[in-house]
Amino acid sequence: MFSLMSVGAATSGLAQDNPYDTTVDIRMGARLFQAECGRCHGLDGKGNDETGAPDLTNGSFRSASTDAGLFNVIRDGISGTTMVGISWAPDNRVWQVVAYVRSLNPQTGDYDLAGDADSGARLFRGKGECVTCHIVNGAGGRLGPDLSTIGNRRDPEELRIDLMDPNETVEPRWWTVKVVRADGSVITGSRMSEDTFTVRVMDDAENLWHFVKSDLRSLERVETSPMPSASDGLSASEIDDLVAYLFSLRKES
Ligand code: HEC
Ligand code: HEC
Repeated sequence: MFSLMSVGAATSGLAQDNPYDTTVDIRMGARLFQAECGRCHGLDGKGNDETGAPDLTNGSFRSASTDAGLFNVIRDGISGTTMVGISWAPDNRVWQVVAYVRSLNPQTGDYDLAGDADSGARLFRGKGECVTCHIVNGAGGRLGPDLSTIGNRRDPEELRIDLMDPNETVEPRWWTVKVVRADGSVITGSRMSEDTFTVRVMDDAENLWHFVKSDLRSLERVETSPMPSASDGLSASEIDDLVAYLFSLRKES
């Protein structure tokens, strides 16, 4: 569970989830798509047999599974094919195209959800205490990811796993650290950034700390999720309601 952090082991800064996926980003991405990609993939993204460019609307991609993977394909192209990419564009523009391509499959789909989204919304703000760590549409805490568009990124089954088993996958951004200062006092919180000599930490009260590593007695990292499993404290039907609510959080273009 705990492991010593090796000095200098800063992880790469490339986000795994798209930081530019608001409705406005999707619209900007659509414009760039139409200008740069439509001639091969079709203006609606449904592909074109003549150019060999595949349909991008069915929600799964041969060359990438994550947003970060799609980012790389769209920026760099696929070598040895006519798929060229837009490496000239700034990163935020590439992310906007990723958001647009994702939005082509809004999963409005045929899920038969047992839960009730309105009850889920109440649980999210009330008994579930989710809002203490998560923002939805501008309100909430920052100790976990913003969930305003989580329904675009996760299907109901994946959401259930996120809730029941938060440790299943924890991105480095959400690893926490335990800092022991020279005077013995302890600060724990999320690791906002780190380089060879310094580390920035946000504690549970959302205070930002900046430490010089050589001043510390120890620095440990905790790779498990700070999020409690929803199965401690919530019933199966309450979890169904939360899944229905989270899945309803989708932004369409
Ligand atoms: C000159 C034609 C052409 C242009 C322009 C083009 N593509 Fe492609 N694209 C292709 C072809 C052909 C492939 C299939 C490559 C292969 O064989 O793997 C492809 C593959 C892809 C894939 C991978 C699909 C998968 O299932 O893995 C994505 C995503 C993609 N293109 C997005 C874009 C975006 C976004 C743009 C505009 C920024 C763009 N493409 C511009 C021809 C093009
Ligand atoms: C103590 C803070 C905290 C609380 C309380 C909390 N979460 Fe989380 N949650 C996190 C953190 C941190 C992550 C990211 C790490 C991970 O994947 O577990 C996360 C991840 C998630 C994810 C996956 C999001 C993604 O983009 O991968 C979902 C969905 C989620 N939480 C929903 C909920 C719901 C619903 C509740 C209330 C029942 C809740 N959380 C309560 C901190 C919290």
